[in-house]
Amino acid sequence: MSEDGPETKPKRRSQEWFGRLDSYGFIYRSWMKNQGHTADMFDGRPVIGICNTWSELTPCNGHLRVLAEHVRRGVYAAGGLPLEFPVTSLGESNMRPTTMLYRNLASMDVEASIRANPLDGVVLLVGCDKTTPALLMGAASVDLPAIVVSGGPMLSGSWKGKRLGSGTDVIRFKEAVRAGTMSVEEFMAAEAAMSRSAGSCNTMGTASTMASLCEGLGIALPGNGATPAVDARRQALAFEAGRRAVAMVEADLRMSHVLTRPAFLNAVRLNAALGGSTNAVVHLLALAGRLGVDFSLDDWDAAGRDVPCLVNLMPSGQYLMEDFFHAGGVGAVLAEIAPLLDTTLPTVTGRPLSAEIAEAEAFDRDVIFPLDAPFKPAAGIAVLRGNLAPRGAVIKPSAATPALMRHTGKAIVFDGPDDLKARIDTVEASADSILVLRNCGPKGYPGMAEIGNLPIPRNLLEAGITDVVRISDARMSGTAFGTVVLHVAPEAADGGPLALVETGDTITLDVPARTLHLDVSDTELEARRARRAAFVSPYARGWEKLYVEHVQQADTGADLDFLVGGSGDGVPRVSH
Ligand code: FES
Repeated sequence: MSEDGPETKPKRRSQEWFGRLDSYGFIYRSWMKNQGHTADMFDGRPVIGICNTWSELTPCNGHLRVLAEHVRRGVYAAGGLPLEFPVTSLGESNMRPTTMLYRNLASMDVEASIRANPLDGVVLLVGCDKTTPALLMGAASVDLPAIVVSGGPMLSGSWKGKRLGSGTDVIRFKEAVRAGTMSVEEFMAAEAAMSRSAGSCNTMGTASTMASLCEGLGIALPGNGATPAVDARRQALAFEAGRRAVAMVEADLRMSHVLTRPAFLNAVRLNAALGGSTNAVVHLLALAGRLGVDFSLDDWDAAGRDVPCLVNLMPSGQYLMEDFFHAGGVGAVLAEIAPLLDTTLPTVTGRPLSAEIAEAEAFDRDVIFPLDAPFKPAAGIAVLRGNLAPRGAVIKPSAATPALMRHTGKAIVFDGPDDLKARIDTVEASADSILVLRNCGPKGYPGMAEIGNLPIPRNLLEAGITDVVRISDARMSGTAFGTVVLHVAPEAADGGPLALVETGDTITLDVPARTLHLDVSDTELEARRARRAAFVSPYARGWEKLYVEHVQQADTGADLDFLVGGSGDGVPRVSH
């Protein structure tokens, strides 16, 4: 009995709101009824939140309202009550200075929105790169039953008879314009041909990588990774996700039951087989941190080390997500690498992964290669260490030039993005040069921008050289390629040795040995450190100030220190 009336004993979480017979229950139900809900909608049936990142400023998620309707139908069909709500959306193509600056902010929005409201389970509607980790992270800190529905990739781009891949071909075209082999008029004419339907990037960039890894993690339904955004089967998947969310609440199948350490290791192996984005490294590390799962940067190397790339997709290969879908999609890849996976793990379907991939098959061996004759050998993301990256750095071998995987060269150092822009077309580089970019990490940029695949200096481009070793504390777009060492930790702005490199220093990259070495003595490095001014953030207020003060380094996922872990779904006080 509360102060002003009797209460019923809550059966579900949502009944702590809607099941009350006191004035609070009156308020909770009464105001909801202004949306036309009938009384029986509050009778204890599972209440499923549809957490939607739809936004016209996030073009990759512009169709999520349509998918939300299909989720809603599925929830109703299974006897639940669907309630859609908006959260911060992060549009990769529009947001400045980088969406990664706001991933953790969006996750806080998601966490608070789920915990503070009368929800028993949630469907996470995601698409563009950061929307997937942001919603996963926020939901994981509450740990209700949850299921991911991705928006799906755009249809293949096509221009002048050639396939166009999102992002990947922008980078190629940009270099072609700089090299004088493509006109600006042609460059602009390709825009509409590249993005010809709703959906996210049609390459195996970060969005497709994260959507596919959700399938491998077991937190999304089969088909989530590759089904095109405009394919009716994507809508059917959304419907089914709504149905499954209700069943998951009834079975109390929470995120933490699915997202376990073995599931993360499966995802690392799948990422290698897909030639997936390096951004998955920071996102999965941050997600594991929210769940308290023992999963580290070294697991990326150890678990993915010998896994080959099976998928011939841009940026590592030539095909696009639509081709991948028709070739069998993520399920076919999971079936190929099943001997390397723990397929006994539970998934949101209520069945083990083995049951989900039992019927999966590859239909086009030019797109999905067999495990015993792969597209590229040993493609797992490599973790490098050495005096230039004491806490680690990463490189994606499948997108790199094999001849540069063991390389020694002289550094050309850029102090940040402005310095890079000002000098990249005038520096005199050689094919052996190593380009170093710093002050682009989580604190330095801030937000760890996707600029680690520095442009090739003009004099090299004109000589027909299209790849050199590049090293930075930045990230790289999942659609990008090249021999690019990323995520150097600690970053320059956090006191990392990257801050101490000078133009002309010798650096040795040895990917097979997993080392990154700056050939300068410790004594000289200490002398340089003493001369160097400490980083001072230009941000005096707002989110950016909070972010710079609390963001952690890339080797643990670049989450904010006070967001690591979770607070569960409990709410200690009623409202008002
Ligand atoms: Fe949105 Fe690539 S820009 S997925």
